[in-house]
Amino acid sequence: MIETCVFPVAGLGTRFLPATKAVPKEMLPVVDKPLVQYGVEEAVAAGMSKVCFINGRHKQAIENHFDRNVELENAIAGSGKEPLLEGVNRLMAECAINSIRQLQAKGLGHAIGCSRAVVGDKPFGVILPDDLCVNLDGPSVLAQMVALHERFGCSVVAIEEVPRDQVCKYGVIAGDEEEPGVFRVSNMVEKPAVEDAPSNLAIIGRYILTADIFDLIDATEPGKGGEIQITDALMKQAAEGRVIGYRFQGQRFDCGSMDGYVKATNFCYQNLYDR
Ligand code: G1P
Repeated sequence: MIETCVFPVAGLGTRFLPATKAVPKEMLPVVDKPLVQYGVEEAVAAGMSKVCFINGRHKQAIENHFDRNVELENAIAGSGKEPLLEGVNRLMAECAINSIRQLQAKGLGHAIGCSRAVVGDKPFGVILPDDLCVNLDGPSVLAQMVALHERFGCSVVAIEEVPRDQVCKYGVIAGDEEEPGVFRVSNMVEKPAVEDAPSNLAIIGRYILTADIFDLIDATEPGKGGEIQITDALMKQAAEGRVIGYRFQGQRFDCGSMDGYVKATNFCYQNLYDR
């Protein structure tokens, strides 16, 4: 069983300004819930009971969302609106929320490395909440990945085929397809130019990582953009055949882009809500 899910949420969300000037991008609503709540729901649905936000200053709204708001509770008591808070209250009861400050914006690998004190020496999940994943017909994407980790005992990254001209936005893998949708990763490159991309299989924001990744992150030099990249640390596991790339069942929306955000909103409104 994987206990902890790490949420790197310290980023400034500059792609979505001015909406994210005072509101963390993870708090933007998709229909009636903030993005980060979908992520925490997915982690809990995958059996995880500890959430670890890697957060930055000025983004306390994320922690506040998973805390009580007594003034609000008092204000709506007896009004019939209490059920609107039931979902998030249930989540708060189902998992322990931890928060660590990432003191410097040194990249995704560095952010994940900051979770070591909470994660310890067991495998753990990572969700980048601006990638919203929905699977209407079965287990959540992270739950599918936990099942694969149990079979293979190594790190698992979620992958998706993207148009060739989009590979420069992602970590890109190459590997042997051992069974449909399951790749033994042999190469990973962070945000390659089209001509350098080893395939069009892009990593999206879901990972299961084995705990040796922490030492590998510590030994990783800054890479693309001068940042410590999780892709580079994972490449060291991949060189030993210890990373699985998984083409998941379900849909993923890049809610860090306007197009993905609008599509996610329409999809969730049509499929997840009784109207
Ligand atoms: C990060 C990772 C990248 C991955 C992407 C998925 O990039 O560095 O490998 O493909 O998340 O969303 P970011 O989007 O934070 O620049």
